[in-house]
Amino acid sequence: MVAHVETVAFLGIDALAVDVQVQLASGLPAFTVVGLPDKAVAESRERVRGALGAIGLALPPKRITVNLAPADLPKEGSHYDLPIALGLLLAMDVLPRDELAEYNAVGELSLDGRLTPVAGVLPAAVAAQGQGRGLICPLEQGGEAAWAGDLRVLAPDNLLSLINHFKGSQVLPQPAPELADETGAQLDLADIKGQESAKRALEVAAAGGHNLLLIGPPGAGKSMLAERLPGILPPLDAREALGIM
Ligand SMILES: Nc1ncnc2c1ncn2[C@@H]1O[C@H](COP(=O)(O)OP(=O)(O)O)[C@@H](O)[C@H]1O
Ligand SMILES: [Mg+2]
Repeated sequence: MVAHVETVAFLGIDALAVDVQVQLASGLPAFTVVGLPDKAVAESRERVRGALGAIGLALPPKRITVNLAPADLPKEGSHYDLPIALGLLLAMDVLPRDELAEYNAVGELSLDGRLTPVAGVLPAAVAAQGQGRGLICPLEQGGEAAWAGDLRVLAPDNLLSLINHFKGSQVLPQPAPELADETGAQLDLADIKGQESAKRALEVAAAGGHNLLLIGPPGAGKSMLAERLPGILPPLDAREALGIM
């Protein structure tokens, strides 16, 4: 029986669906990864072996084959560690198959079983949300994944707390979208002397979401007024911030 775990490959900022298939077959013990893996993906075998060892699980003495489908798409990066480990746990019947089927997974494993951050969690979360699925990602990046909007995010610190979550003995909380610190103070509308009607027009445009056209001779303060518009607008929510990125 073949275990499947869904993840993504990155092509620019696009995230393409990748199916990680894990098969345990009888034969001489071996662990091979196929499907155009680069060096980081091929080395993932050692991290997965170490991480499973750290939580007290030995790889089964079988012929383990991991296929990253579609097989003709090059796979780069260390984020395949987690889906490969989860595929093995499914194949070893440590995890329930049906619940994991609703999630995509990205994350690098360290030898002690901890999940460490990887690049591309936000595009992966946007892709998962588009497929109507959830995302499993490292703890530090839960806040980043939550920006993608309405999707279930599991952000465990290590492999063991993820297993405990699926076994029902520990519930991982849904992370909240994390705001980056505002870079520098916003320009203040109070800096503008006079110009009462222009300031009023700015306020009306901000409140009503209207368009604004500023006409006047050079030095009249058009740029100064326009730069102060963001300061009187409410902060963006996650969906709006993604839309203007
Ligand atoms: N109403 C005002 N209150 C305070 N400073 C002003 C005002 N109008 C113009 N200034 C000053 O003049 C400078 C030039 O204005 P600017 O906004 O660049 O003009 P414009 O874009 O219309 O050519 C501003 O940086 C500011 O120092
Ligand atoms: Mg100007």
